Amino acid sequence: MKALKNYYALITGGSTGIGRSIAVSCARRGMNLILVALPEQCLDETAQYLRSSYHISVETYGCDLSEPESCTGLVNWIRNKNLQVNVLINDAGIGCTGAFEHFSESFYEKQIKLNVIAPTLLIRSLIGDMKKNGGGYIMNVGSLAGFFSIPFKDVYAATKSFVNNFSRALRSELKHSGIQVSVLCPGGVRTNKQVTAYLDHHSWIANQTTVSAEEVGEQAVAKMLAGKAVIMPGLLNRIMYRLNKLVPRSITEGIAKSEFRKVALEAA
Ligand SMILES: NC(=O)c1ccc[n+]([C@@H]2O[C@H](COP(=O)([O-])OP(=O)(O)OC[C@H]3O[C@@H](n4cnc5c(N)ncnc54)[C@H](OP(=O)(O)O)[C@@H]3O)[C@@H](O)[C@H]2O)c1
Repeated sequence: MKALKNYYALITGGSTGIGRSIAVSCARRGMNLILVALPEQCLDETAQYLRSSYHISVETYGCDLSEPESCTGLVNWIRNKNLQVNVLINDAGIGCTGAFEHFSESFYEKQIKLNVIAPTLLIRSLIGDMKKNGGGYIMNVGSLAGFFSIPFKDVYAATKSFVNNFSRALRSELKHSGIQVSVLCPGGVRTNKQVTAYLDHHSWIANQTTVSAEEVGEQAVAKMLAGKAVIMPGLLNRIMYRLNKLVPRSITEGIAKSEFRKVALEAA
């Protein structure tokens, strides 16, 4: 991918965690960046770090993407500034582990809006501009969890099933359009405090599947640019994905239930 002046990689959730690692990997390749996250100090600190370390242009846009009008605001802002997006990476998302009734209606609403509606609307709004700009890359951050039904992680896993399936379908639809669509499906990654606390309560074997955020970010960008459809860092995660296709669903669901119930009880 050529790092062109005035061309930008837009990364939602680019301030911390996996999104930040993806931003570093893009910056290392000379791409200019638009980082989108909640308007907190972290966003500015990451932008400043990337500007001074990689001598690229980094724009920031602070907003709550779970509010659908934020997507419109972001797209208008991009057009007004005449920034051309040729890479769109939808990373921002929130998870949870616990009994379904443990979380409020408003939490689930926010989770579905952020994990499902925001990436859909952003792609819908920017795809025409991307085609006019000569094509590019879209990468959505799904999850290994999206290939399973996971009791005690019911809604989160379902939002990621949406992302995984939507990305595959869109990739096929856009095959000859000049836009390559990939989906990144990580397993456990020690990022924020909540995820780290959950992983501390997982079994030894589950912890063997974790991959560092830095490695996920680097693999994600390298494989996105290579045009890979599904990017799944970690050999054990790829083995689990393949086994899931062979083992009856009642068995994988039972294993997931006992693993995630333990985490839900211990982390509560
Ligand atoms: N960690 C894992 O084990 C794992 C595994 C598979 C998939 N994933 C997926 O990977 C993605 C990133 O997860 P992560 O673990 O890196 O999380 P993280 O460290 O908490 O980072 C999440 C990013 O999203 C931003 N964000 C959160 N809520 C937002 C909102 N309402 N509006 C705009 N931006 C918002 C955060 O911004 P601020 O921090 O600045 O507020 C941050 O930049 C998510 O989609 C997650 O589902 C994670």
